[in-house]
Amino acid sequence: MNALQLAETLAACHDLEASQLLWLLEHRDPDVSEYLRKEAQAAAQARYGNKVFIRGLIEFTNYCKNDCYYCGIRKSNRQAQRYRLDREDILACCDLGYDLGFRTFVLQGGENPWFTDQRLTEIVRAIKEAHPDCALTLSVGERSRESYRRLKEAGADRYLLRHETATDSHYQKLHPPELQLSHRMECLSNLKELGYQVGAGFMVGSPYQTLEDLVRDLRFLKEFKPHMVGIGPFLSQHDTPFRDFPNGSGELTLFLLSVIRLLLPETLLPATTALGTLLPNGREAGILHGANVVMPNLSPEEARGKYLLYDNKLSTGAEAAESLELLRENLRKIGYEIPVARGDSLIAPDR
Ligand code: 5AD
Repeated sequence: MNALQLAETLAACHDLEASQLLWLLEHRDPDVSEYLRKEAQAAAQARYGNKVFIRGLIEFTNYCKNDCYYCGIRKSNRQAQRYRLDREDILACCDLGYDLGFRTFVLQGGENPWFTDQRLTEIVRAIKEAHPDCALTLSVGERSRESYRRLKEAGADRYLLRHETATDSHYQKLHPPELQLSHRMECLSNLKELGYQVGAGFMVGSPYQTLEDLVRDLRFLKEFKPHMVGIGPFLSQHDTPFRDFPNGSGELTLFLLSVIRLLLPETLLPATTALGTLLPNGREAGILHGANVVMPNLSPEEARGKYLLYDNKLSTGAEAAESLELLRENLRKIGYEIPVARGDSLIAPDR
C-alpha cells in the first residue's frame, strides 16, 4: 500500500477499510497531510461554502457526578470551585449572544442531578420561547431515553455526547467502572432515534490510546454518521489522575480532522477550544483542515474561569463583542465569513 494512493482513494470514495486507515495513520508524512488538508478543505467548501458557523457555548454548571480520569470537573476534584447558572443567567447569555449574531446556543454542563428533567425542560422552553429562530443544543451527558424524549419535546434540537473512544478496553482505562461504553452507545442511538441532530467525538492522544483505537473511532463515525463530530487533543489537567500524561498531538488532530471531513463530507466539524488552546491559531488551522464550526464561549466571566476541563483552557469569551470581531477578522484573512444562521447539518435528522 502507498499512503498517497490511499489518501486519493479516501478523497474520491469517502471511505477506507480499517486496515487502510491504519496504514494511512502509520505512514502520514507532510505530503500526504497537505494533500488531505487541501481535499478536506475543498470538500467542506463544496458543501458549506466559505462559511464558518458559530455556536454560543454556555457552560451552565460544573457540578458533575462522574469521575472521568481525564476531566478537571470530575467529582473527586476538590479544587474545582463548583457553580451553576440559573435560568435568568442562562437567558441573559442567550440574549447577549443573539445580539452578537448567534443563532445556535449550546448548553453544556457536567452531569448534575440538580438539573432534573423538570428544571431543564423549563430552561429549554424559555430559551426557545425567547429565540424561536435559534437552534438549541444540549450537552449534558448520559440520561435516560425518557429524559431525552422530554427535552426534545420541550424544544431541544441537537445533542452533543462524545463517545470518547469506540474501544471497550480503552474506555475502561479512561473511566471508572460505573461508566460503560455500551451505555454511552445506547444513549447515542437513543438520541438519534428521537430525532436529535447528534454530535459524537473523541480526544486525540488520550492516555493509552493507540492508532488501532483511532481507527475504530473513525470506523464507528463512518457507520454512525453523526451530524457533528467534535475532536480535540487531550490536554492534561493538574488535579486529575492523568496529570502526568503528555498532551495530545496537534499534528495528529489536524490530520484526523481532514480524514473525518473526507469520510463524512456533510458533517459539521468544529475547530475546538482544545485545539485552539494547544496550537497558536489552532482554530484557523482547523478550518484550513476541513473544519467548519467554531464554538465561542458565551458563559459569564466568573463561570468561564471555573469550567476548567484541562489546563490553560482558552477563556476569552465572545460576550465581549470585540473578541467575536477578532475571530471574524482572523477568519476573513483566510477567506471565510461567519453568517448569522443556525448552520444546520446537511445530514437530515433520523426523523
Ligand atoms: N482534555 C481534552 N478534552 C477534554 N474533555 C474533557 N476533559 C478533557 C481534557 N483533559 C473533553 C471530553 C468531553 C468534552 C466536553 O471535553 O471529550 O466529552
